Amino acid sequence: MLSSLVLLPFVASIASAINLTVASSGGNVTSPLLYGLMFEDINHSGDGGIYAELIQNRAFQGSTEHPSTLEPWAAIGNATLSLQNTSVPLSSALPVSINVAAASEKTKGTIGLSNPGWWGIDIQPQPYTGSFFALGSYKGKFTIKLKSALTSQVFASLSIPSSTQADKWVEHKFVLEPKIAAPNVNNTFTIEFESGQGSVNFNLISLFPPTYKGTPNGNRPELMAALKGLNPSFLRMPGGNNIEGDSYHYRWAWNETIGPLTSRPGRPGTWGYENTDGLGLIEYFNWCTDLEMEPLLAVWSGMYLGTKDVLSEAALAPYVNDTLNELEFLLGDASTPYGSLRASLGYPKPFELKYVEIGNEDNLEGGAGSYASYRFSMFFNAIHAKYPDITIISSTGDLTAVGDGSATDYHVYTLPDHFVANFDLWDNVPRTHKVLLGEYANVQYNIKDQPLAGVNWSAAKLEWPIWAGAISESIWSIGAERNGDVIIGQSYAPGFMNRNSYEWSPDLISFTADPAQTVLSTSYYAIELLSNARYNATVPITSDTGFGPAYWVAGVSEPGKYTFKTAIYNATSTVPFNIAFEGLSAGSKGTLTVLTAPDGLSSNTLVDGTVVDVVQKKVTELKASSAGSFTFELENYSVAVLTT
Ligand SMILES: *[C@@H]1O[C@H](CO)[C@@H](O)[C@H](O)[C@H]1NC(C)=O
Ligand SMILES: *[C@@H]1O[C@H](CO)[C@@H](O)[C@H](O)[C@H]1NC(C)=O
Ligand SMILES: *[C@@H]1O[C@H](CO)[C@@H](O)[C@H](O)[C@H]1NC(C)=O
Ligand SMILES: *[C@@H]1O[C@H](CO)[C@@H](O)[C@H](O)[C@H]1NC(C)=O
Ligand SMILES: *[C@@H]1O[C@H](CO)[C@@H](O)[C@H](O)[C@H]1NC(C)=O
Ligand SMILES: *[C@@H]1O[C@H](CO)[C@@H](O)[C@H](O)[C@H]1NC(C)=O
Ligand SMILES: *[C@@H]1O[C@H](CO)[C@@H](O)[C@H](O)[C@H]1NC(C)=O
Ligand SMILES: *[C@@H]1O[C@H](CO)[C@@H](O)[C@H](O)[C@H]1NC(C)=O
Ligand SMILES: *[C@@H]1O[C@H](CO)[C@@H](O)[C@H](O)[C@H]1NC(C)=O
Ligand SMILES: *[C@@H]1O[C@H](CO)[C@@H](O)[C@H](O)[C@H]1NC(C)=O
Ligand SMILES: *[C@@H]1O[C@H](CO)[C@@H](O)[C@H](O)[C@H]1NC(C)=O
Ligand SMILES: *[C@@H]1O[C@H](CO)[C@@H](O)[C@H](O)[C@H]1NC(C)=O
Repeated sequence: MLSSLVLLPFVASIASAINLTVASSGGNVTSPLLYGLMFEDINHSGDGGIYAELIQNRAFQGSTEHPSTLEPWAAIGNATLSLQNTSVPLSSALPVSINVAAASEKTKGTIGLSNPGWWGIDIQPQPYTGSFFALGSYKGKFTIKLKSALTSQVFASLSIPSSTQADKWVEHKFVLEPKIAAPNVNNTFTIEFESGQGSVNFNLISLFPPTYKGTPNGNRPELMAALKGLNPSFLRMPGGNNIEGDSYHYRWAWNETIGPLTSRPGRPGTWGYENTDGLGLIEYFNWCTDLEMEPLLAVWSGMYLGTKDVLSEAALAPYVNDTLNELEFLLGDASTPYGSLRASLGYPKPFELKYVEIGNEDNLEGGAGSYASYRFSMFFNAIHAKYPDITIISSTGDLTAVGDGSATDYHVYTLPDHFVANFDLWDNVPRTHKVLLGEYANVQYNIKDQPLAGVNWSAAKLEWPIWAGAISESIWSIGAERNGDVIIGQSYAPGFMNRNSYEWSPDLISFTADPAQTVLSTSYYAIELLSNARYNATVPITSDTGFGPAYWVAGVSEPGKYTFKTAIYNATSTVPFNIAFEGLSAGSKGTLTVLTAPDGLSSNTLVDGTVVDVVQKKVTELKASSAGSFTFELENYSVAVLTT
């Protein structure tokens, strides 16, 4: 983003300006969570994404759906690689390992295996913490390297003595510390040993760069820093579709995502590959701790994705108990059975949890009837009885089927015009229950002359968020901010796109293995601006014009400290403002931050490996006129925040 600071003195007031008077009190409460994150572990945004593990297919996890594979491991020297169920498994969760054998008795010299990472490995002069388990009768040394896949350059190399045993898996730990950065991410991780002493089996071969805040088994620092930039208040996890499981009935089962990595079997995810579940329940909570976010936990509600297959009341009962066990694991003290399990994993102090969502989009797949008649209430009653302070959120995605005393989760993927036309939706809903805007995004272009058209799901979606979309999302968000008494918070979705393998576009943040290729979308910058401008309560605004082309909200944090937010859409000329804030007199100072882009169709993208950032940020210092008001003009397709 281009940024500039412009110092402007007093700007003369302009005829036909939008005249606003902002009251100092008497408004609505602020949404408790205002802006947050929704994490959908969609194609390689967990494994190979925010989860910092560098090794792809580290433990040969498989299922009936995705049998264990050797991909993307490659042999070094004259080695033969094969998958084996050894008579002594590493663990019941990780029974399959890779056997590395000399291709023939004549094989001489070094053999081994190499891994290309998740479409590359970023190598910097920093410590990489690694380990692998091995089984065999090898007495020599293992040589471990980070090296170029394109040249013979080796960035780090280390030899460690083998401690292998024939009948017992032994863990080998190491730290690789390259002295220089690699010029690109086209690198591999290798383990080599001398042929001639029989084969060696390897499993759970792992390598981590430094993680965000050094959290063990943690996340990629630069992606976490990008999220932190959004000042998020909550994390909706472990996903929408991700919790549902698919036609093979693999729901997201919390108890198989905890404990040492050797006890996590993994699971076929919803997007066609096996998940490691290294990013598990505790890791999601650590993520919240690291970014100071409220966890918003979704639990499986008895509907498998894509199957029109819903559990009966009797069949669902054990899963309700399982959810109570999960909550006890998170919230129980160490004297409870599951609380003690958590404590045994190094977390003696209970986590905090104020929001639980039952399922995801249960209005789809023919699930609405069973959700309304028993599925939601079974979970609601059980959770509410034990945890009356938890806000329970239904997932019908609309505003209809919701239990007493619960909130609902509303999702909208639509066109820019549609967001703008629905600016006042929340002004007019009944105040019977609260609403989480758990997923929203502009996903297609406007359709000419059809301002209320919805998404055509048969047509292509946008590859990258566009600026008109970011403006329309901002207007939608401003509408939500105005109604903090009913809106809990809002999260753009999906959050992440792995440019090497993705299922859904557009997304908020795109990335590759190369941290220099992280693209913060146009929508990202608009959310960053709005989410970082916090206030305690909205305040009423009187105006001599209606909404459009400008849409606004104002809030106050403490006397005299106002935050005014506006976005401009479909203007026929620049839009002059003349704003008076109650209690602010002539000469009061304000800071106006304005985001614009070359035009509504522009996007932040990656072109030939280089990030292209079109969003322009202009910061102007303003002074109230002799009449006590702030005067400025905004262009078409601007989003702006004025603080006093
Ligand atoms: C705003 O106030 C100015 C000065 O009084 C006036 O000329 C202008 O017409 C007003 N704008 C609108 C939209 O009424
Ligand atoms: C390992 O055992 C599982 C379960 O019996 C089987 O499905 C799989 O094919 C075996 N894998 C190998 C490599 O033998
Ligand atoms: C590599 O293995 C092949 C197949 O077993 C064998 O024919 C060849 O001689 C071996 N080469 C070396 C260098 O060991
Ligand atoms: C590494 O280079 C090879 C050969 O040019 C290419 O096929 C591959 O896509 C590159 N991988 C990455 C991660 O850049
Ligand atoms: C997890 O819980 C389910 C019951 O919901 C149980 O069937 C399964 O065995 C448990 N897995 C582990 C690893 O304890
Ligand atoms: C659920 O847990 C309760 C309390 O422990 C128990 O009485 C009940 O039998 C369990 N139900 C099922 C279906 O497991
Ligand atoms: C924006 O302008 C276009 C073109 O005039 C019009 O079709 C559309 O309805 C307008 N959208 C809104 C939300 O006002
Ligand atoms: C709170 O918001 C609603 C919807 O916009 C509005 O009707 C109501 O007047 C607001 N309350 C206050 C005190 O401003
Ligand atoms: C939706 O998109 C498809 C694919 O481009 C197209 O064939 C179809 O006509 C569109 N439907 C509508 C209602 O525009
Ligand atoms: C999702 O990831 C899997 C496994 O890496 C890959 O085979 C598939 O093509 C990906 N899907 C899309 C749409 O990118
Ligand atoms: C604003 O909120 C903060 C944090 O909750 C609180 O400390 C402060 O007293 C509030 N100020 C007003 C004016 O309500
Ligand atoms: C603002 O954008 C809309 C939609 O693209 C366009 O119709 C209008 O002419 C633009 N206004 C200005 C002042 O450029």
